[in-house]
Amino acid sequence: MSGGIAAYKSVSLARLLTQAGAQVDVVLTRAALEFVGAITFEAVTGRQALAEIFEPGHALDHIRLAREADVVVVAPATADLMARAAHGHADDLLTASLLATSSTVLFVPAMNDHMWAHPQTVRNVAHLRELGYKVLDPDDGPLAVGEGSGPGRMPEPETIFAHVGRILEADSTLRGRRIIVTTGATREPVDPVRFLSNHSTGKMGAAVAAAAWRRGADVTLIAGHTDVDLPAGPRVIRADTTAAMAAAVSEEIRSADALVMAAAPADFTVKDASATKLKREGGASALDLVETADILKAVSAGRKRGSVIVGFALETGDATTRGAEKLRAKNLDMIVVNDQTEAGAGFGGDTNRVTLLTRDGKREDLPLMLKTELAEQLLDRIGAMLNGS
Ligand code: CTP
Repeated sequence: MSGGIAAYKSVSLARLLTQAGAQVDVVLTRAALEFVGAITFEAVTGRQALAEIFEPGHALDHIRLAREADVVVVAPATADLMARAAHGHADDLLTASLLATSSTVLFVPAMNDHMWAHPQTVRNVAHLRELGYKVLDPDDGPLAVGEGSGPGRMPEPETIFAHVGRILEADSTLRGRRIIVTTGATREPVDPVRFLSNHSTGKMGAAVAAAAWRRGADVTLIAGHTDVDLPAGPRVIRADTTAAMAAAVSEEIRSADALVMAAAPADFTVKDASATKLKREGGASALDLVETADILKAVSAGRKRGSVIVGFALETGDATTRGAEKLRAKNLDMIVVNDQTEAGAGFGGDTNRVTLLTRDGKREDLPLMLKTELAEQLLDRIGAMLNGS
């Protein structure tokens, strides 16, 4: 960490990384210590936070840290720190560690918008990138009090955390692959204040999109209504209705290597939805419904050769037989079958219990697991299918 007002956000970053199982060694510049205390990080990481290079007993800290690190994240990276790093300075523990490491280094800039736009900074950032360092673009948003808004704000800890994951989890079977994931429920308007929908929360699709992006895929997440925050990293397209989702999927599918259709698009829409709010008195006692487009059925025509199409089937009993019918009817490579009547499975919860059926007739019954774990299982199989094994 170098010394910027965004340093307070690095406490959350250190906590996120530690909670995810990482061993986090925090190295602070003297300027960073003006903003946050080393003790704060020791409490969050359970490890000694280091700042001094000239301290008896710590002479070789920079070499040890540099060797042990799987990834080095400089957050916040101030204009001054990046200037020093770009010129190979090694006059404190942080810059000396940067020179001594052969691990991937991620700079997360945070500064005033004028400092970010200054030709000196622009040149230093370009030079750091040329040298093989990764430098995130800062967010465009409110800066320090009274400084208005502009590019220079440090990205949120969750975003930095996702980028660290993408560095650590790069997976050769999915790196650079274009993966489309749909998630959540679509909503079909009844009138301007009411809609038809379902209980999908979007957890499963969000988990697949996040994990695919961490593995290095180029991910587009097409999201209906969700109850969860969408993951940092993937490009997001919002699709409120089944028709909007169908349009987005048919556009994206043409260049996609894989589609994971985890969304629950509404199957019916209201014919001639009312332009004004329906009134209780004299109001409708029945709605005239028409079927929406079956998005998966339509992708067959537009898909790229060799692409992998994965659907879901949420049933309430007799799940495997119905799932097998959907696999065939929708011409899928794999279907993830789950049963809403089973404990811990289906919409809403953090877990699922699924059966995987594939085009070649194989069946796999997976145990109950977190949706985040199931996402990894699905991506292992999609990666293998894409690579012909
Ligand atoms: N699906 C779709 N387009 C729709 C509805 C569903 O592409 N209009 C997709 C879902 O995203 C899922 C798969 O089709 O991947 C199966 O969804 P499901 O609701 O189980 O099946 P339906 O085809 O809607 O059949 P039914 O509701 O009659 O069980």
